Amino acid sequence: MKAVPALMAAVVLLAASFHVAAQPKGKAAAPAQAESPAGVDLKRAEQIVAARCSLCHGNEGESASPVFPRLAGQHPEYIAKQLDDFQSGRRKGTMNDQAKDLTADEMRALGVFFGRKKPLAYTVRDEDLAAVGRYIYHKGNSYSGVAACASCHGPKGDGTIQLPRLAGQHAVYLESQLKEFDKRERTNDNAVMHAIASKLTELETRAVALYVSGMK
Ligand code: HEC
Ligand code: HEC
Repeated sequence: MKAVPALMAAVVLLAASFHVAAQPKGKAAAPAQAESPAGVDLKRAEQIVAARCSLCHGNEGESASPVFPRLAGQHPEYIAKQLDDFQSGRRKGTMNDQAKDLTADEMRALGVFFGRKKPLAYTVRDEDLAAVGRYIYHKGNSYSGVAACASCHGPKGDGTIQLPRLAGQHAVYLESQLKEFDKRERTNDNAVMHAIASKLTELETRAVALYVSGMK
């Protein structure tokens, strides 16, 4: 039990550092609307998406099936990092094959391409369950040592350059990732998400995934 306050402190510290580092003031804060960054070949990204990615993630990154994560509105840096991790095998799954022949420039362009697409959100029907999720998301669970998701992913779930946007993501995908973090099956994870996911109950996991899928 003694370890819990220490861990909480560590998580809070981490949360604080993510927060500070990730809130650039000024131009860098709105990459989605900005001009195409120099050296980013959006035409090339469009070709790759049409030929391959759209099959699962859709042309607009909307990912119609809940097992394929939505990429629309996701941070370009996060997308590029995940592609690199899939290529090197640090993160394992269906995507290893998809990422194997992408160049670093293509990964970056794909990130910018999807990052500019309009994010979608779900209409949540089970409001009671979503209310449990809302509590966890914004306040965490101080009884079991779960940090508030909002402290890192932001009060609106829109993430930062260093961490993923969650708002509007498929609940099924969110839940599967939380379970993978818990079991350390998401191999490119960080200690933070493992520590959090391992303390969530089944109900909390479901509830927070449902709530987040409805965030705009
Ligand atoms: C056959 C289906 C399929 C195709 C084609 C596909 N993906 Fe994926 N993608 C997935 C699945 C499934 C995941 C979830 C992670 C996993 O289980 O491997 C994923 C995850 C991702 C992620 C991580 C998202 C996150 O929130 O962490 C990115 C980025 C991504 N894909 C980009 C791409 C790009 C770019 C292409 C085209 C080059 C592509 N994908 C093609 C199925 C696919
Ligand atoms: C201390 C900071 C921190 C807190 C608090 C935090 N997260 Fe995360 N989360 C991260 C980071 C960093 C990543 C990116 C991991 C990576 O790069 O693979 C992440 C990734 C995720 C992902 C994977 C997203 C994707 O697209 O694949 C999900 C889902 C997630 N977090 C949910 C949550 C939930 C739910 C909570 C609250 C119960 C939470 N996080 C609290 C830092 C945090």
